[in-house]
Amino acid sequence: MTKTPLIISTDPGIDDIAAMTISLFAQELDVKMIIPTWGNVALEYTLQNTLNLEKFLHTKVPVVSGANQPLVAPKISAASVHGKTGVAGFDFEEATDELVVPGLAATLMYNAIMDSPVKVTLLGIGPLTDYALLLKQYPNVVENIEQLVIMGGNIGRGNHSPLAEYNIAGDPEAAQVVFQSGLKIKMAPLEIGNKAHVTQEQMTQIKNCGEVGNMLYSLFSNIHEPDGDPRIKIFDPTAVGLILCPEAFSVRKANVEVELAGRYTYGASVINFMSNNPNAEVAIDVDVKMFADWFINKIKLADQGRM
Ligand code: RIB
Ligand code: CA
Repeated sequence: MTKTPLIISTDPGIDDIAAMTISLFAQELDVKMIIPTWGNVALEYTLQNTLNLEKFLHTKVPVVSGANQPLVAPKISAASVHGKTGVAGFDFEEATDELVVPGLAATLMYNAIMDSPVKVTLLGIGPLTDYALLLKQYPNVVENIEQLVIMGGNIGRGNHSPLAEYNIAGDPEAAQVVFQSGLKIKMAPLEIGNKAHVTQEQMTQIKNCGEVGNMLYSLFSNIHEPDGDPRIKIFDPTAVGLILCPEAFSVRKANVEVELAGRYTYGASVINFMSNNPNAEVAIDVDVKMFADWFINKIKLADQGRM
């Protein structure tokens, strides 16, 4: 099987930890580089969380420090959801920075993408700052990118503000650059993670997936929804699912624009399914059982692969 080369831009973040874990051990993927960026918590934490996760998983994928802040917007935080350091509930052993590759993320991503004999897939599970910088610095990079798959946006209500989802709202200008880039984009909005939330039965199954399952169970048990929603919503793996288990999703073409001027709507993803000028495929539904079975199986594979 030809593995899909993958670059991950991420802001761990509890659900990011889950998405990276299953990606690193998925036999269909070859993770070439991980770019921790600012997002749920500050870059200092997302970078260290990424290094600590790789130490826990015994993986050695190069790590490149991403953006420290959004392009224009004021920096926001989701520490109330993920904990001060971004990984409430599990004490990872502190890793060294041996996996860090020094240099500018945009340049290192560009070189990796253009050197790849197979078109590279990009996974975006945090604010899109680093992908916007890549596209602005090296517009021709799109030639060797297969697709960009993101967890982000919302068809209805937001989770950062009434009409904006956190990743898009975190850097609206960056998201607009990405949606205008001409890249093939697939998008898993909030509605997918809301519907495919992790049930107590699945939590028990996850806890029984060895040390990897125990780590994820501990993190998932400590994710906190500020609105008091008791559902355990693990959003970022739904974007990995769009890549590896597309049969679990229903998608529709749409034109996606990001609101950049609204006083109350800044950062809202405006998804127009009626447009004659679609720029993305948006997941509108998910087979919850198919996705859950796939997700738990990927966690099992990660635990087996970690040995
Ligand atoms: O809105 C959910 C998204 O924002 C997820 O990627 C979560 O990790 C946060 O980054
Ligand atoms: Ca994230």
